[in-house]
Amino acid sequence: MKLTPEQLAQFDRDGYLFFPGLFTPEETQNLNDAVPELYNRREDYNIREKGKDAVRTNFAAHMYSEPFAKLARHPRMIEPVQDLLGEALYMHQFKINGKMAFEGDVWQWHQDYGTWLNDDMMPTERAMNVAIFLDDVTEHNGPLMFIPGSHKKGVVEAKHDLTTTSYPLWTVDNDLIRQLVQRAGGKQGGIVSPKGPAGSMILFHSCLVHASGSNLSPFDRVSVYLSLCAVSNHIRRYKRPEFIAHRDFAPIECLPDDCLLNDYPVDLPWKDGIPATAMQTSMEAIEPMPERKAA
Ligand code: SIN
Ligand code: MN
Repeated sequence: MKLTPEQLAQFDRDGYLFFPGLFTPEETQNLNDAVPELYNRREDYNIREKGKDAVRTNFAAHMYSEPFAKLARHPRMIEPVQDLLGEALYMHQFKINGKMAFEGDVWQWHQDYGTWLNDDMMPTERAMNVAIFLDDVTEHNGPLMFIPGSHKKGVVEAKHDLTTTSYPLWTVDNDLIRQLVQRAGGKQGGIVSPKGPAGSMILFHSCLVHASGSNLSPFDRVSVYLSLCAVSNHIRRYKRPEFIAHRDFAPIECLPDDCLLNDYPVDLPWKDGIPATAMQTSMEAIEPMPERKAA
């Protein structure tokens, strides 16, 4: 899928692109059907909401679940990012976020690249998120909120929040959010929430400041996030387990466009469990950070 010049300009200006209904209900069916069984597993890769049984995030399903392994190689998700970054990509992170009915907790304001830099030593922001909705997303079930254009600020100051939710995050404080929203138009467009049917896709810059509220509605808001990183920009430290920050920097090879509807062989290296090596972590750099080029 090629981005048009208008889409490229829009991405540069706003830091995200929204593709309502890009995948059909037939294409998302097998993905949806696989989620309950994955969420039921008592495994480290299922992070539950604070004090609850509901799953907040399932990590790395593309390593052990066939439908998600195919999604992780889908040209509609991979190719636009490859075009934008002008390089082959590897999978830095893969998650199925629950935001379950009544139980789904907030995601505080943050930039993903803040966490990838501070925790994983990812050299630059040459990485991107692509999300696909597995449920309809409305104003009621905790849609993502973006501050358009906030990616232009580069890496902003963040604090490591270990307590608000069950998942540690480098978060941006309220004063800076106020300024960024004001700069983006204040009450007129300073915050946007792409909403649409299951199968919609969002592509967003790793420095785009975003958040989401809790889900008090009776409707789940399951979404899948692929965090794709330029191969040359791979992480330099294994501070977090491999199911959260991957260590295989081999370029992703796409499957054909009909891969969610037909059988294609995919590797499932963690089908029988996560290897012990993937759980090992270290504060040491695996290699030095490259020097940042002067602008
Ligand atoms: C995220 O920012 O990583 C997740 C946000 C969400 O799913 O609402
Ligand atoms: Mn995020």
